Amino acid sequence: MGRFALLGMGWHSWLFREEMMAIVGEVDLLHPRVVSCKIEAETLGRLSGSALLDEVLIFGGCHELNDSPEEHEHLFSEIADWAMNSMGEGSFAIRTRKIGELPDSLSSRAFERSIGKHVANHDRIVDLESPENEVVVIIAGSNEINSHPEPIPFSGTMIIWGIKEMSWEKEDFSGRSPTERPFFKPVSLEPRQARLLISLSNVKGRELKAIIDPFCGTGGIAIEGCLQDIEVLASDLDSRMVEGTISNLKWLGKKSTVQKYDASEIFNLWGEREGSSFVFDPPYGRSSWRSDDSIEVFLSTLREARKIDPAGVVSTMLPAGPEALTKASLRQAVVMGRPWSELESEIESIGWRVHLLCPVRVHRSLVRVIAVFHPSD
Ligand SMILES: C[S@@+](CC[C@H](N)C(=O)[O-])C[C@H]1O[C@@H](n2cnc3c(N)ncnc32)[C@H](O)[C@@H]1O
Repeated sequence: MGRFALLGMGWHSWLFREEMMAIVGEVDLLHPRVVSCKIEAETLGRLSGSALLDEVLIFGGCHELNDSPEEHEHLFSEIADWAMNSMGEGSFAIRTRKIGELPDSLSSRAFERSIGKHVANHDRIVDLESPENEVVVIIAGSNEINSHPEPIPFSGTMIIWGIKEMSWEKEDFSGRSPTERPFFKPVSLEPRQARLLISLSNVKGRELKAIIDPFCGTGGIAIEGCLQDIEVLASDLDSRMVEGTISNLKWLGKKSTVQKYDASEIFNLWGEREGSSFVFDPPYGRSSWRSDDSIEVFLSTLREARKIDPAGVVSTMLPAGPEALTKASLRQAVVMGRPWSELESEIESIGWRVHLLCPVRVHRSLVRVIAVFHPSD
């Protein structure tokens, strides 16, 4: 087990942290977009499938910059000394990553040149093309400009360093966007969003044995589950969607159980299933069979999920009003056409506790909240 620094994508740093906590458990915050944690080799493999992780480093250290030239010199040699003692055999390169808002005067080239020189003076060969060791220095600035709400403000400059973990591979989402698949409908979920919902349904220490999507539509979630070799139990009330999901999975060389069934009675289909996560985006508006019963179908599905696995987790994406994007009014937001406080009470009365409620801007005028429920007992 080693200590690692995990760098998140800029799109949504709050959700990045939530995703990391769901997969690895406790994390220490170094910057809103960078966390550190201890990870076992097996968990490192599971991080390869994550949606919002950008880079994994064997953690070296971190330092909040005050910006005096002497401090810079001292930091360059501290990083270089650590790198020399921690790198494996062979060539090296120093690479910087600038994130957030930073003063113009802060030069990443100065970091690369000065640290590189220190290390090269100790008979190490620089190879900028394909180094055997890549020392990464993250220069992380303020996160005041955000397209999504960020509950953790940061206004300084944090320097975080480490060595790139070569065994970690970033997920490649290209080539399977909804419009590239054989069966497409406007309701299709983007691969990264589907992957994120699956990640968020993890709880450290609980084995995820099956993903149940009772509203599978075109199979956005089923695809991402199958690609991670997790058993997927998918269903939809519309037989065209069932056929569509099967053909999308076949196109990727994957197979899973896909049935035509009403989600409100899903327990009759799957029975008791320990280790399940219920991952779905429920019908709403035009994707609902009768637009006024979206809430009823959603709540019945939550009841059925409790019966299938009383220790299960629900990870879902719900339509919300634009006010959900303002941190202050998130709890007063309208979700699935109802005030959130009302809907939350109903969810709690079924036996679920709201673990996470986080807004996402889908496009200019469309807002969703990602909601994760854990059993309340
Ligand atoms: C928002 S879409 C899901 C989209 C899906 N995640 C995808 O990636 O394509 C909602 C789906 O719920 C289905 N649906 C509506 N009412 C249902 C019900 N009572 N039981 C099961 N499925 C239902 C619709 O046919 C539709 O495919």
